[in-house]
Amino acid sequence: MKQKQSRPGETGFSRRGFLKGVGGAVGAAAVVSRVLEAPGLARADEITREGIRRVPAEGLEITLHVNGQERPVTVRPDQTLLEVLREQLGLTGTKEICDRGACGGCTVLLDGRSINSCLMLAVDAAGHEVRTVEGLVQDGRLDPVQQAFVDSDACQCGYCIPGFVVRSRALLDEFPNATPQQIRDGLAGNICRCAAYARIFEAVQTAAAGGNG
Ligand code: FES
Ligand code: FES
Repeated sequence: MKQKQSRPGETGFSRRGFLKGVGGAVGAAAVVSRVLEAPGLARADEITREGIRRVPAEGLEITLHVNGQERPVTVRPDQTLLEVLREQLGLTGTKEICDRGACGGCTVLLDGRSINSCLMLAVDAAGHEVRTVEGLVQDGRLDPVQQAFVDSDACQCGYCIPGFVVRSRALLDEFPNATPQQIRDGLAGNICRCAAYARIFEAVQTAAAGGNG
């Protein structure tokens, strides 16, 4: 493509380009400030210059509340909750499958509501209660939903199952006597590539019928 020629006296900078650059810098500063103001964050480092705070691209200290424990971690601002759970906290029950919010394999509870942890930044989870599939076990006893999956043999390769279990836990917390249709609707965001849906729905129905608590 033919390049635009500069006329004599032009510097190569345009007013429009300059404003775009300034806008980008202000936007980035706003993001950084928001990160620093989030609950549960400690400042790993900061440089104050003309009112702009900066944190390094890595080394942001935060405290996550996971499965009833406080877990201090050092994260990059762009790290997802899923990455931190698996790679730093060793909680590999939460699965990374699509990494784009399309399969439900990474489902965890955030303040009791199910979310896709691949879509949440770790810094945004600070100050909230995170529960993973490992955290559903209480005093060495499986959660009734987990037990129902075992009893119903609701699994083939098993890779999607932790996501289904956690999503089902949230569903039954909201609808303890969920109907088959409510179960299908509630689990619509979770994908099983082995197509073990019949056994999965049966397990959740069993947990619902058993009072699941
Ligand atoms: S890995 Fe998060 S939704 Fe698929
Ligand atoms: S059991 Fe294999 S993906 Fe669901």
